[in-house]
Amino acid sequence: MLLGHAPMDAAHEEFVEVVTALAGCTQHTALACLRAVRAHLLSHFAVEQEWMQKTDFPAADCHLDEHQRVLDAVEKVNALAAVGEVGLQDIKRLAQALADWFPGHADYMDSALSAWVNKKMHGGAPVVLRRHVQVAEVA
Ligand SMILES: [Fe+2]
Ligand SMILES: [Fe+2]
Repeated sequence: MLLGHAPMDAAHEEFVEVVTALAGCTQHTALACLRAVRAHLLSHFAVEQEWMQKTDFPAADCHLDEHQRVLDAVEKVNALAAVGEVGLQDIKRLAQALADWFPGHADYMDSALSAWVNKKMHGGAPVVLRRHVQVAEVA
């Protein structure tokens, strides 16, 4: 899921980490994991919004609406969890919903933003370099 814009790729790696931790949380760690997801989303979405503003990204509105819907869902579960009104199953469902949502958002909306930011900053489309390790067969 690398998009070729390093700060965005780092934010996306962190998304996967906090959502994976939420999916594997226990009764004891659920609240801390939920808070970590919320804190991550606030900074991840704020950074993307800042890039949109700095570079006059043309499709900002629908991208930001989608961020807000996701944040609203996380805020709601956080608030209910803080007063003991959601169970572990609901929290795991939220983790699954986030995991299901993310690849489509990254592929469609974040990749367009990454391409735009790279074009504005460096005058070109992003290039992701991967190292392929080939193992030669020993005859
Ligand atoms: Fe993103
Ligand atoms: Fe995004």
